[in-house]
Amino acid sequence: MKRLPNEVKHRILILGASGFLGHAIYKELCPYFNTFGTYNTENPQFDKNQHFFQYNIEEDDVYEILDIVKPSIIISALRGDFSAQFVAHKHVAEYINNHKTKFIFLSSANVFDAYSKYPSYEEDKTLSNSIYGHFKIKIENMLLRLPKKKVAILRLPMVFGPYCPRLKEIAQLISDKEPVEIFPNLIMNVTTHTKVTQQIHYIINRNKSGVFHLGSIDLVHHDEFIRDIIKISGLKKAIYKRVYTTNDDRYLAVLPKYNMLPKNLQLLSQEILTELEI
Ligand SMILES: NC(=O)c1ccc[n+]([C@@H]2O[C@H](COP(=O)([O-])OP(=O)(O)OC[C@H]3O[C@@H](n4cnc5c(N)ncnc54)[C@H](OP(=O)(O)O)[C@@H]3O)[C@@H](O)[C@H]2O)c1
Repeated sequence: MKRLPNEVKHRILILGASGFLGHAIYKELCPYFNTFGTYNTENPQFDKNQHFFQYNIEEDDVYEILDIVKPSIIISALRGDFSAQFVAHKHVAEYINNHKTKFIFLSSANVFDAYSKYPSYEEDKTLSNSIYGHFKIKIENMLLRLPKKKVAILRLPMVFGPYCPRLKEIAQLISDKEPVEIFPNLIMNVTTHTKVTQQIHYIINRNKSGVFHLGSIDLVHHDEFIRDIIKISGLKKAIYKRVYTTNDDRYLAVLPKYNMLPKNLQLLSQEILTELEI
């Protein structure tokens, strides 16, 4: 994606740049911006890269990295202990408040997992039954108190890609001859890491802010989609375990209505299957 002529050369810090999404975002932005990242697990590839900082949310102070990098944009793609993550995000929020810096936070469709009857849109009230969803809501609410122009909250459904943790886990279950759980009542939307990274690039280039729902514009049944993914990824036959959490269909889908991205940045679930096909 080309930079716009009047665009500032941002200094971007990606927290969790060694992870599935963080690394894909790093690779997308690196050729265009001065991009830095954090990693937690020891890794020689990152150890010798001066744009990478080893950072453990439970032991290190994110301020030290912020002081060195002086980012104009911070992207959070972290996982890890929820209370340590909350403290880290609180420090980032304080930094954002006091500097000319913008924050892009990767949130999740799970902020709506207590609602089941409909898909969710950007301005719907969040409500969760899960610890993960509660945690994401708590961070979202903290960020929503910052100046509006300084924050982009990206709610993602399940993200797929050839090396995504979810597919690796499925491959492991198949190789161990363990069952793969599928949820026939779950209707969701989905996305890929390539689309998410392009969408983030666009949000940065156009200096967009607010809440974005970055999932496919169509919906899929969890069981059918997982079966399709396994088939087209060239994995061996799986043993399936059907899990019914409710009697009725249940939605876990984040659809866009107010903060729409251009057509070329929207996607259909079929594109994910095409991307993963080998
Ligand atoms: N993947 C999805 O389907 C999906 C869907 C919705 C939302 N999200 C959100 O997107 C974000 C990224 O997800 P992901 O799937 O890319 O996760 P991931 O592959 O597990 O990457 C997590 C990142 O966090 C780092 N990390 C883990 N524990 C840490 C700790 N104690 N201290 C510091 N860093 C630590 C990891 O570093 P090391 O690898 O170096 O240890 C890695 O860089 C998460 O916030 C997630 O909630 C993901």
